Amino acid sequence: MSTYSVIKGTHKLTRGLCVFITRPFSSMSNRRPKVYVTRRVPPDGLEILRPHCEITQWDSEKPVPRAELIRQIAGKDALFCLLTDKIDGEVLNAAGPQLKCIGTMSVGYDHIDMTECRERNIPVGFTPDVLTNATAELTVGLLLATSRRLIEASQSVRDGGWGTWDPCWMLGHGLDGSTVGIVGLGRIGMAVARRLAPFGVKRFLYSGHSPKNEAHEIGAEFMDFDALLSKSDFVLGCCALTKENLGLFDKDAFTKMKSNAIFVNTSRGGLVNQTDLYQALVNHQIAAAGLDVTSPEPLPTDSPLLTLKNCVILPHIGSATEMARGAMSALTGRNILSFLRGEEMPCRIK
Ligand code: DGY
Repeated sequence: MSTYSVIKGTHKLTRGLCVFITRPFSSMSNRRPKVYVTRRVPPDGLEILRPHCEITQWDSEKPVPRAELIRQIAGKDALFCLLTDKIDGEVLNAAGPQLKCIGTMSVGYDHIDMTECRERNIPVGFTPDVLTNATAELTVGLLLATSRRLIEASQSVRDGGWGTWDPCWMLGHGLDGSTVGIVGLGRIGMAVARRLAPFGVKRFLYSGHSPKNEAHEIGAEFMDFDALLSKSDFVLGCCALTKENLGLFDKDAFTKMKSNAIFVNTSRGGLVNQTDLYQALVNHQIAAAGLDVTSPEPLPTDSPLLTLKNCVILPHIGSATEMARGAMSALTGRNILSFLRGEEMPCRIK
């Protein structure tokens, strides 16, 4: 008979809830590996791990406080973390030498010090592919909301700003006949382009480290970043955040864009210098911006960007569908369990 215990308690240093779940181990080894889960997550990943592992979880909607993470990770065999957890040398030291692997429930891994992980031989699993469609869909939605001024228009209905049908009012920018520039034509960039093509886009441009074979499918032209900026009606940030591209979209970049350009970023807030973006929007150097990601997150409610009608900001919901988040959780569970079993991780960061 299978039994398990759940012990709930509030750690005295923090207000979050800790849930300790134990189940009898059946198939892996004599000792069930210990896994620390840093947040309340869709159950899919926990269901994969639970029969084989002893799980300790920060069971809260809020990120685990760093002091609690450092306290709880000590002695664990694996870490199931999120993009809100900074995983660096200090955390790895606190974990101890028995830490075997990390699984992050995200495709982005700029929150993890990969150099430290590699030096310690700790493999890190991530969740590409399973969120591509959801994120691409949201990118298209945000692009349209921004270019066709959907939030502003809807607000005018509520606040009496809608006077009459006016041929010169609430005009936006359409995709038909446009040039779309994609910075980073990876999985998500390609999925966005495939969805935008039927809107009548005339030209797709892309920039990045090197030309991509897949680009032929949408007839996208490879060019350098500056050329892309100067030719595009829509500029989409779809690349992963690295040390090299931190603040890539700055004053210099916005100056090179067309005055009718719509800038959309669904990757990471760190790609953008937000002070420079604000100036570019206020001065009508570019037409509008749609951001699903900011720096920091959450964006402080007194951010100047929130005063602008030509800036649409969403709270990092690119992958927020039931299906995508369930699949991300499951893949994180599989990444961790596979490695603990001595198998290849299904998706390991190279
Ligand atoms: C990721 O997984 O990195 C995404 O930003 C989550 O939507």
